[in-house]
Amino acid sequence: MRKTVPDFFKMKDEHERIAMLTSYDYPTAHWAEEANVDMILVGDSLGMVVLGYDTTVPVTMDDMLHHTKAVRRGAPQTFVVTDMPFMSYPTIDIALSNAGRLIKEGGADAVKLEGGESYAPIIKALTQAGIPVVGHIGLTPQTASQLGGFKVQGRDFESAKQLMRDAHALEEAGVMAITLEAIPAEVARRITQEVNVPTIGIGAGKECDGQVLVIHDMLSMFDRFKPKFVKTYGNVKPIAVEGIRQYVIEVKEQRFPGSEHEFSISEEVIEKLYGKD
Ligand code: KIV
Repeated sequence: MRKTVPDFFKMKDEHERIAMLTSYDYPTAHWAEEANVDMILVGDSLGMVVLGYDTTVPVTMDDMLHHTKAVRRGAPQTFVVTDMPFMSYPTIDIALSNAGRLIKEGGADAVKLEGGESYAPIIKALTQAGIPVVGHIGLTPQTASQLGGFKVQGRDFESAKQLMRDAHALEEAGVMAITLEAIPAEVARRITQEVNVPTIGIGAGKECDGQVLVIHDMLSMFDRFKPKFVKTYGNVKPIAVEGIRQYVIEVKEQRFPGSEHEFSISEEVIEKLYGKD
């Protein structure tokens, strides 16, 4: 049964942790649904782990729509959140139009966008239009270069204070959840205590109301680098590479395909076609 926004608030109230995972295509969405994840994130991290860019900045609305549709087909019973890509929400009007497309055309249940209190007016307009929004503060990859790179945020007094302000502003703007990325566990714990919306951490410690990981990180499908907050739960790459290597060998040695992979035709038809041997 697909969860709804009130279910996530209830989970926070009842201290039931929310398990969120990214998916970008039909098979990984299907796996996530079979494994009972509460929420799937079609993250713009797909730019890095699926499309091979160095950052999430080049990801387009078309990319997000294309992948959200595939995820929706793979996980019809799971709540899907889709990231709004970089520069798809610079003004209220543009944000409304793009978020509307992700929900109506893509089939997402909610959108996620990066940014703190300065984005509150945009978030408010979206939520008032009936679009559920997940906020994202701390390390915000779309603007990582402004933050000095992919670095932990909120370690000094001013930036920790700003994170608290951001979380409250997002709550007031009506978000249904806040993603906290790469911030000290103690700051995440305080935010989680102070706001009434669920917090979903990635590199933000165990006191958040939920956790999110990138599926390519947790299954070792992406190995260009591994952030400190990633735990490996499976090692898919060697299995995949070994399988492909074996296929190449068997094709070259003519061991694949075997007779069990062939389609037959009756002797009679063959005779009609080519005559008797
Ligand atoms: O794009 C993404 O996968 C994300 C997570 C890292 C939270 O935003």
